[in-house]
Amino acid sequence: MKNIVLVGFMGTGKTTIAKVLARGLGKKYVNTDDLIESREKKNINDIFKDDGETYFRKVEKEVIKEASRQADQVIDAGGGVVLDPENMENLRMTGTVICLWADPDTICERTKKYKHRPLLNVEDPKKRITELLDHRRPFYEKADFHVDTSTRDIGSIVEEIKRIVDRKGNS
Ligand code: S3P
Repeated sequence: MKNIVLVGFMGTGKTTIAKVLARGLGKKYVNTDDLIESREKKNINDIFKDDGETYFRKVEKEVIKEASRQADQVIDAGGGVVLDPENMENLRMTGTVICLWADPDTICERTKKYKHRPLLNVEDPKKRITELLDHRRPFYEKADFHVDTSTRDIGSIVEEIKRIVDRKGNS
């Protein structure tokens, strides 16, 4: 069975939805940030701080390539994977790519209590979120399917994704 790949901005609900989806469908849950952290033996904040974003993106690209070789997974992809067209090509080869969306206020609310995202550890996270979203919008738009998570409950989002995948015939 093909992979289901969730992309989308930070705080759009990828991790929550991917875990429920994987459990419900009996697929393996894979998180690209976890793969990067275990490979580098340090957390994302420290990788950004010590090695820089360019290095992080290089490792991210490698783990995406490897994860794309396996099947029957729900891949919870880091918010920036869409920026590299090769990542999208690799993910698409073995998976259906679904982008989760949320409005900037919702993203701000959902992310403000966490400190593990270096790009949002800034004085004015709302401004940063708006700028990054504006820049990345065309990249996220390249996904095969789109689901807005701003105002909906987890159950209905998961059901919608299952319907998308069923319609597409995910084998
Ligand atoms: C990033 C998103 C993060 C993580 C890193 C960079 C981004 O993942 O990969 O902090 O560039 O949007 P989540 O989207 O899972 O928070």
